[in-house]
Amino acid sequence: MKTPVLQMKNICKSFGGLRALIDVNLELYPDEILAIVGDNGAGKSTLIKVLTGVYQADSGSTELNGQPANIRSRQDSLNAGIATVYQNLGLVDTLPAAPNIFLGDEPTKKILGLPFIDNKKMRQDAEEILRTKVGVELPNLDDPTRNFSGGQRQAVAIARAVRANDLHVLIMDEPTAALGPEETRKTLELIKTVRGRGTPIILISHNLDHVFSVADRVQVMRGGRRAGVVEVAQSNKKEVLGLIVGSDLQEAS
Ligand SMILES: Nc1ncnc2c1ncn2[C@@H]1O[C@H](COP(=O)(O)OP(=O)(O)OP(=O)(O)O)[C@@H](O)[C@H]1O
Ligand SMILES: [Mg+2]
Repeated sequence: MKTPVLQMKNICKSFGGLRALIDVNLELYPDEILAIVGDNGAGKSTLIKVLTGVYQADSGSTELNGQPANIRSRQDSLNAGIATVYQNLGLVDTLPAAPNIFLGDEPTKKILGLPFIDNKKMRQDAEEILRTKVGVELPNLDDPTRNFSGGQRQAVAIARAVRANDLHVLIMDEPTAALGPEETRKTLELIKTVRGRGTPIILISHNLDHVFSVADRVQVMRGGRRAGVVEVAQSNKKEVLGLIVGSDLQEAS
């Protein structure tokens, strides 16, 4: 049995009297895409926010590579190698790809003892990260990202997230929610490429077609609990839907 890269155990989180997470477990194995699905309010975002230090769990524990991970803030989760691509991507539209990928952490060079952003190195590094870690070459690298297609924008946001060398987990929150069919297809390809280059991914999605086309396993949340986990190769959308709504679906006649 492989050791999980990430293991969350018995996570509980309440907001006042509302029990948003009840004894939730999660395992993420190396090189896999784990989808998290569930109805509105099922606890998906809360679980991810506990993992990324936005919320503190009331009880339960998180381990990375078998070691306790004490995540108390967003910065702690980033330091632990947990990166997130949010639905809005958080790109600065007026800037090209490279400064977006290095935002706030640009490579510098010293001129007369003073630090300046090393634009040439930043552009080279950005190109290299896009090529080696995300598997894309952007012909319009130097255009403002507002001129990029949806898929190209995703590539830049993913490149920023996976830039760190010691990345353990990439979380993608509804990456295809705002995209047309062609951009969706490209984005699902990007996700598979990143996984193929060694970064396990947690994918939050409402779209079971997308989930079944990229994920290896699916964790279903319902009413704050883990309702089930299935292997995509041994399951189907109907079974997952049944877990989401909490009943065996009747065969359509
Ligand atoms: N900050 C908060 N304060 C109070 N209640 C919250 C807070 N965040 C989430 N909740 C509640 O916790 C429950 C789980 O919410 P959560 O956002 O995790 O669901 P979700 O599965 O992400 O749903 P969606 O598919 O709509 O994004 C819901 O009942 C929600 O109203
Ligand atoms: Mg949510």
